[in-house]
Amino acid sequence: MSDIDWIFRRRSIRKFTEQRLTTEQITRLLEAAMAAPSAMNLKPWKFVVIQSPELLKKLQKALPFGKMNAPCAIVVCGDLRSIKKTVIERFWVQDCSAATQNILLAATTLGLGTVWCGVHPINTIDKAVRETLEIPQGVVPLNVVFVGYPAEDKPARTQFSEKNVYFEKFGNLQEIALSNEAKPTDED
Ligand SMILES: Cc1cc2nc3c(=O)[nH]c(=O)nc-3n(C[C@H](O)[C@H](O)[C@H](O)COP(=O)(O)O)c2cc1C
Repeated sequence: MSDIDWIFRRRSIRKFTEQRLTTEQITRLLEAAMAAPSAMNLKPWKFVVIQSPELLKKLQKALPFGKMNAPCAIVVCGDLRSIKKTVIERFWVQDCSAATQNILLAATTLGLGTVWCGVHPINTIDKAVRETLEIPQGVVPLNVVFVGYPAEDKPARTQFSEKNVYFEKFGNLQEIALSNEAKPTDED
């Protein structure tokens, strides 16, 4: 595997074995999460680690598209209870999303599978997750990441499409961008 190919191995895994994670594995995932960039380094994240079968069942119920049987879930929350609330309110979703992606990528390198299940800003899901985990006002659950050993195989891939890429100005395809550059001449 070369350079960035390992990133392409991260896929959403929705089937898991019953094997539990070790405390060391969970700690590594959280270390990865908290290595993420954060606006003004305010780090407005909180993580709830759930391994109790009873609570995992309740979480599944709370999530319309999160019925996965995983041995562990990490709920990534934004904590807006701060005197820096004005900044945090603007950027917490980006900070917590960066932390979430770090969890997914770290899990891949540890041979674990994950799926990111969205919570915020869907009010009904937010309410159900909030009640299940007793999340206080001022803290917002962004997502639930189910983690475990994969019981399904998915091919590594990127979904790269040059149609999503513009050059210099929005809408400029590569050919147009190149035509604005000094074109190679016969003498070059
Ligand atoms: C914000 C967000 C919310 C998502 N919510 C769900 C979800 O509720 N249930 C689910 O099964 N997958 C969910 N996914 C995973 C996407 O379905 C998945 O990333 C996408 O289909 C691409 O597949 P891949 O992750 O294997 O590359 C979510 C992903 C993101 C980024």
